[in-house]
Amino acid sequence: MSERPLPRHVAIIMDGNGRWAKRHKLQVALGHRKGVETLRAIIRESSDIGIESLSLYAFSTENWRRSPEEVAALMGLLLEYFTSEIDELDEKNVRIRILGDKDGMPDKQRAALINAEERTKTNTGLNLNIAINYGGRAELVRAAQRLAEKAAKGEIRPGDITESTLADELYTAGQPDVDLLIRTSGEMRLSNFLLYQCAYAEFEFPAVLWPDFDLAAYHEALDAFRHRDRRFGGRNS
Ligand code: FPP
Repeated sequence: MSERPLPRHVAIIMDGNGRWAKRHKLQVALGHRKGVETLRAIIRESSDIGIESLSLYAFSTENWRRSPEEVAALMGLLLEYFTSEIDELDEKNVRIRILGDKDGMPDKQRAALINAEERTKTNTGLNLNIAINYGGRAELVRAAQRLAEKAAKGEIRPGDITESTLADELYTAGQPDVDLLIRTSGEMRLSNFLLYQCAYAEFEFPAVLWPDFDLAAYHEALDAFRHRDRRFGGRNS
């Protein structure tokens, strides 16, 4: 079979920071810190090789249930990341979008996220979607509410709602569906990530923990995708 092009949209569930820290007898916060190094490298590579959209699951609506220390460490890393990386990302023409409920974030983090989106909104390179305080079902409920509001105002009729008008109300509006979803650490679950956008995604589950996910592992997943036979419900032969 001939090789397919690179995926247009890659989504990644960055799993295994906690296990990595445990394995190295370190505090969990250091696992997340090491995870940010991986994230930096994967974003840079995705931009360099011309991926159109990269979606990273950084903090789910369920992650608030972790210990206060771990939540504080993650919030600290988020703030640090969006403060220290914004210049480089902007220079690389990366457009940042936050997927999730920014209003539920602490003030400083919310301001940094809004600033990152505003500052990069006219950039035309990699679409970098970072899911923070995000849940896939909540995203669908939000889309339904927005459409219902339009219908109530008489702007649309219920019959006008299509797959595409619904997609336009998602955080990823205007971007292609996910082609390839990668979840590291060997876990094989979607965990409420991009439920609508992953309808026809190919899945890769490398065993490696996120802090150890290097560029070679990333390219292995991309190569595996390029050899998949994608039929979208049809038949190729
Ligand atoms: C999963 O590992 C990872 C997370 C819940 C957080 C991912 C966050 C980062 C990589 C850093 C913060 C992001 C940005 C944008 C700066 P886990 O802790 O669930 O690992 P485990 O399953 O081994 O415990």
